[in-house]
Amino acid sequence: MGVEVAVTDLTKSFGRQTIWQDVTLTLPPGEVSVLLGPSGTGKSVFLKSLIGLLKPDKGSILIRDTDIAHCTERQLYDTRKLFGVLFQDGALFGSMNLFDNVAFPLREHTKKSEKEIADIVNEKLEMVGLSGTEKKLPGEISGGMRKRAGLARALVLEPEIILVDEPDSGLDPVRTTYISQLFMDLNAVTDATFLIVTHNINLARTVPDNLGMLFRRELVMFGPREVLLTSEEPVVKQFLNGSMRGPIGMSEEKDQATMAAEQAMFDAGHFAGGEEINGIPPQMQPSPGLPERRGVARRQQRVLAMLHTLPPQAQAAVRRLMAAEREGEERARHAADPTLHEDPSVQRAGLG
Ligand SMILES: Nc1ncnc2c1ncn2[C@@H]1O[C@H](COP(=O)(O)OP(=O)(O)O)[C@@H](O)[C@H]1O
Ligand SMILES: [Mg+2]
Repeated sequence: MGVEVAVTDLTKSFGRQTIWQDVTLTLPPGEVSVLLGPSGTGKSVFLKSLIGLLKPDKGSILIRDTDIAHCTERQLYDTRKLFGVLFQDGALFGSMNLFDNVAFPLREHTKKSEKEIADIVNEKLEMVGLSGTEKKLPGEISGGMRKRAGLARALVLEPEIILVDEPDSGLDPVRTTYISQLFMDLNAVTDATFLIVTHNINLARTVPDNLGMLFRRELVMFGPREVLLTSEEPVVKQFLNGSMRGPIGMSEEKDQATMAAEQAMFDAGHFAGGEEINGIPPQMQPSPGLPERRGVARRQQRVLAMLHTLPPQAQAAVRRLMAAEREGEERARHAADPTLHEDPSVQRAGLG
C-alpha cells in the first residue's frame, strides 16, 4: 500500500518572500490527490519541499516515522527512495536515449545486473505505452512522450508515493486526458499514493479522490473532492469556473484560454460514463481489465467517518455519489447475472 504523507504547518519563504504558510494536509495512503493553484502560487516549491529538495522554514512532513523537514541526510536519502517524481518537463537527460534515461535511477541506486535493468526498463516503458522507443533521444519525441518517459523513469524504483508536477503543461486536452488515465491505471496497479499539482480544472474535477487549492500564500482547503467541488468560497468557485469574476486577477489569461478549451471538451461529453451529481462529474476509472483501485474502499470508510465534519452541500454530494455508485453496481450485477433478467413475476412465483 502507498504511504501516508502528513504535512503540518509548513511554511516556506525565499528571503523576505513568503511562498506559502501554515500548510496542513494529509495525503491518504494509496489515494489520488490533486493540488490546484494559479501559476506562481508555489505548487512546484511544495513538491520540492515534500522530497526534501527545498527546506521549509517551519513545520513538519511526516512519512513513515521520518520528519523530512528535520532529519539527517541519511534518513532523507532513504525516505527519498519512496518517491517517484515526474517533473514538469520530464527532466530527461537530453544526450541519453530513453532506455538509458529510464535505467538511470537503477544504475545509480541499485546493484542490479544489466539484464535485470533491461527487464525493468522494458516493463516500465510498456506500462506508459512507449515500447519500441528505447533508442530515441528526448529531442526526437513529442512533449507527451517525454512526459511518459519521465513517468517510466519515476516508476523504476517501485515508488510508494508518486508526485507529478503539471502533467498537462504543453499538452492538448486530449493528451491530458490520456495521461490522467495513465495515472488512474498506475494507481490501480501499484496502489501508490499520488499527488498531482496542476491548474487544469478538468483534471481536478475528474481525477482525484482528494482536492486542495493553494491561493495567496495559503492552502484554501484540502479534503475529499466533494468539498472543493461544491464549495461556495469565491476563489474556489472562480477558479473552477475559469471565470474572470472573483478574486483571481488577470495574470492567468492564458490559463483561462486553456480552461475554456477544456470546458468545451467536457461539455462535448468527452468524459462520458455518468451524469454530474450536484455539479460533480463522475470520477475517471481505471481502464477496463485492470484491478479496482484499492484506495477507493479505504476512502469510502474514511469519508464516511468524517462526513459529519463536512459542509452540508459536500455531505449531500457524498451521499448522492455513493447512492449512484451503489445503483451502478446493482445494474452491473443484474447485467452479469442472467437469472436476474427473467420476468420478475416469474421469480416471485418461484419464491412463493
Ligand atoms: N529556488 C528559488 N529561489 C527563489 N525563489 C523561488 C525559487 N523557486 C521558486 N521561487 C519562487 O517561488 C514562487 C512560486 O514558484 P512555483 O512553485 O514555481 O509556482 P507554481 O509552480 O505554482 O507556478 C515564484 O515566485 C518563484 O519565483
Ligand atoms: Mg510549477
